[in-house]
Amino acid sequence: MTFLSKRINNLSESQTIKMAKLGRELSAKGIDVINLSFGEPDFFTPEFVKEAAKTAVDENYSYYTPVSGYLDLRKAVAEKLLRENNLTYNFDQIVVSTGAKQSLANAVMCLVDPGEEVIVPTPYWVSYSEMIKLADGESVFINATVENDFKITAAELEAAITPKTKLFMFSSPCNPTGSVYSNEELASLVTVFEKHPNIYIISDEIYEHINFVGKHASIAEFDSIKDRVILINGFSKSYAMTGWRVGYMAANKEIANACDKMQGQITSGTSSIAQRAALAAYEGGLATVNEMVAEFKKRRDIVYGLLQEIPGVKVNLPDGAFYFFPEIKSYFGKRNGDQTIHTAEDLSLYLLNEAHVSTVTGEAFGNEDCIRISYAAAEETLRDAVSRIKTALAKLN
Ligand SMILES: Cc1ncc(COP(=O)(O)O)c(C=O)c1O
Repeated sequence: MTFLSKRINNLSESQTIKMAKLGRELSAKGIDVINLSFGEPDFFTPEFVKEAAKTAVDENYSYYTPVSGYLDLRKAVAEKLLRENNLTYNFDQIVVSTGAKQSLANAVMCLVDPGEEVIVPTPYWVSYSEMIKLADGESVFINATVENDFKITAAELEAAITPKTKLFMFSSPCNPTGSVYSNEELASLVTVFEKHPNIYIISDEIYEHINFVGKHASIAEFDSIKDRVILINGFSKSYAMTGWRVGYMAANKEIANACDKMQGQITSGTSSIAQRAALAAYEGGLATVNEMVAEFKKRRDIVYGLLQEIPGVKVNLPDGAFYFFPEIKSYFGKRNGDQTIHTAEDLSLYLLNEAHVSTVTGEAFGNEDCIRISYAAAEETLRDAVSRIKTALAKLN
């Protein structure tokens, strides 16, 4: 027996990866499984981005890269933040990483000391709570529900703050709910942060462009707190580049330097080829992104209509990202034959085995009453999936 560290033993297995694995196992048996547990666009990386990577290979971009990323990429990120978000950052405030995930982990590790509290609105993205655990921090959850579009209020934020609060961490557009905070909603949270100058804010904006309600609002736009905001973004979702592994943070110079030091000891700079591709993505404009977003919006409207027709399923209209997070707790206690549904995980497994549709239990996102359904799939597949879900749920009584 191997005696693994307490650190790794305390860490939870990723539920999204687990469901994808179970789905693959059923598929391997020849069963037609529809996988809606994925967290990635079902589109290809744009051609001009792929071409830039091929050129980089030919031009021998094969050496170690600067830890914080190539200078021209960091400058292109700063220009993007000015052009699209009206945010001024110098290139030395940008740290490019192996995906937004590493940027998030860097920031948590560099800011949180053991015992310090991190406020996280639920539902949250799966890895937040585990990153906080790795830093020996304490997660303090604020439960948002479908009734308030899964968003928290200033009063709820204020009530969660204690002298130990170090950090607040959220995503907008949100994975798993698709909720998007408006500028006014962010402004009301900012009034609270203004009263608490020792709290830092991680703003995960990886779904920035997949927004169906207009211009993205960033909490970094509020000058009174900008210096305490760690803005996280990347190329995975907007440019369908999940496998390329490029993300970044923009933060004050002290935090940026700390994160450079952290990843300098753990991973060094991310892939040279992927960075050249990312640079091309930001130089190439938003045409392909806009096409993808139009397609996502079409699918969102279709799936929203179909989900609303299912009895006992409560759903909000997501303003961004590519997920639904329906509340399905009305099915708890119901059964089909000898199978009784007690939890969201039971329901998610039931849908996999009965409807052959793979979803993710809300428990993975800190919410026990919901499941996450990704609509990163073709329209016909989505119609088929929701119809299968409806049929399987109708068998529960
Ligand atoms: C909210 C959120 N943040 C960060 C990430 C990680 O993105 P990346 O692929 O850039 O590491 C994801 C990916 O699913 C996400 O959903």
